[in-house]
Amino acid sequence: MNKVLVIGGGGREHALCWRLKQSPSVSAIFCAPGNAGIAADATCLNLNGTDAVVDFCKSENIALVVIGPEQPLVDGLTDRLKLENIPVFGPSKAAAQLEASKGFMKDLCRKYSIPTAAYGFFSDKKEALAFLDSRNFQKIVVKADGLAAGKGVIIAESKKEAVLAVEDMFSGEFGSAGSQVVIEEFLEGREASFFAVCDGKKAVEFAFAQDHKRVYDGDKGPNTGGMGTYSPAPLVTDAIRKEVMEKIINPTMTAMEKEGCSFSGVLFAGLMLTKDGAKLLEYNVRFGDPETQSMMMRFDGDLFELLLSCANGKVDEKFISLSKQSAVCVVICAKGYPGTYEKGSVISGLKKAASLPGVKIFHAGTAEKDGNIISVGGRVLGVTALGHTIKEAQELAYKAVDLIEWPQGFCRRDIAWQAV
Ligand code: AMP
Ligand code: GLY
Repeated sequence: MNKVLVIGGGGREHALCWRLKQSPSVSAIFCAPGNAGIAADATCLNLNGTDAVVDFCKSENIALVVIGPEQPLVDGLTDRLKLENIPVFGPSKAAAQLEASKGFMKDLCRKYSIPTAAYGFFSDKKEALAFLDSRNFQKIVVKADGLAAGKGVIIAESKKEAVLAVEDMFSGEFGSAGSQVVIEEFLEGREASFFAVCDGKKAVEFAFAQDHKRVYDGDKGPNTGGMGTYSPAPLVTDAIRKEVMEKIINPTMTAMEKEGCSFSGVLFAGLMLTKDGAKLLEYNVRFGDPETQSMMMRFDGDLFELLLSCANGKVDEKFISLSKQSAVCVVICAKGYPGTYEKGSVISGLKKAASLPGVKIFHAGTAEKDGNIISVGGRVLGVTALGHTIKEAQELAYKAVDLIEWPQGFCRRDIAWQAV
């Protein structure tokens, strides 16, 4: 029997812990730091720093570490665990550059002919502004090179806006993330999120999902980490799946190997499905949040064996199985998110909502205090439902949402509208 350690404490990690627990060969799950919901599926603990993680893995004889968020990957936690011979699911620091540097990703696409928006990559403000001058355009996209929690992308509707975005980035608006800037062509089309599990050489399709990035109904308001998802994505045909594997994912795996930073873990491609085919918007090097909540609801394979096979360099697709049913996840946030919000209010009705058949409530920013569940973050709950159709899943998810009593919270009421 095997013990697993999951790093992270959001809705994504709750969904991962919940599914890992159902693997027949898993005897115990630990999660650092976890949250009040994860505590039902795993032993939550604080591990401060890489040494603490390594010591814990050794003392508990951990069979697999699964790293949820990007930051520990970018900081090199995988590299350290590998040095200590601890099996780990997640890319090395060098491979995590695919997410940590948009310029790295774009230059790789150019070198290996992977379809993506035309672009320029600048570390000098004057050059970036000259590039803008040389273009005649309607819309253009300005991106901070580094990690900016989903906020470093500006879609400029005019040259004036583009110039302002470039100036803001170079003046430190996004900290060091904006010390280099990508400027790229605006792509028209529909977005989809694609996930592949990888072992360093080979990638295997995991699932498609669809996120809702804007905070308000009708895709209005500022961008967030994600307000809700559904899976599968009906707009993705078999032909598109094949195209994405052949033209984007497989060439990326080959490219990363050739560059000396082979990719292992989960490759999350943000795609734009354009009239000229699928194009890569961005790579993330980890599971999506809240895409994972919808995907894990559908997953009925053996998650532990799957992730371990990737960690061991031999991804085994027989462990992947996804229900033909559809899942919808509605994220409930603290009022004010993605701006400032209050913490500490009590959430009730969770048991009643979770008792609806086909509903699972994944916790993100929650904690337990005096026997109550309280909010401690921006994105707080991921109410997730499974149905025969997306419409059925959507109705069930909102039925559960309406049983939750939390006046200080809000959610979008239109998650999955495109698919219904
Ligand atoms: P990214 O973090 O690069 O995925 O960008 C965040 C969001 O900005 C994406 O989900 C898209 O909605 C939008 N976006 C990014 N790049 C482009 C582009 N080249 N054309 C159109 N929309 C884009
Ligand atoms: N939901 C988008 C992300 O995880 O980056």
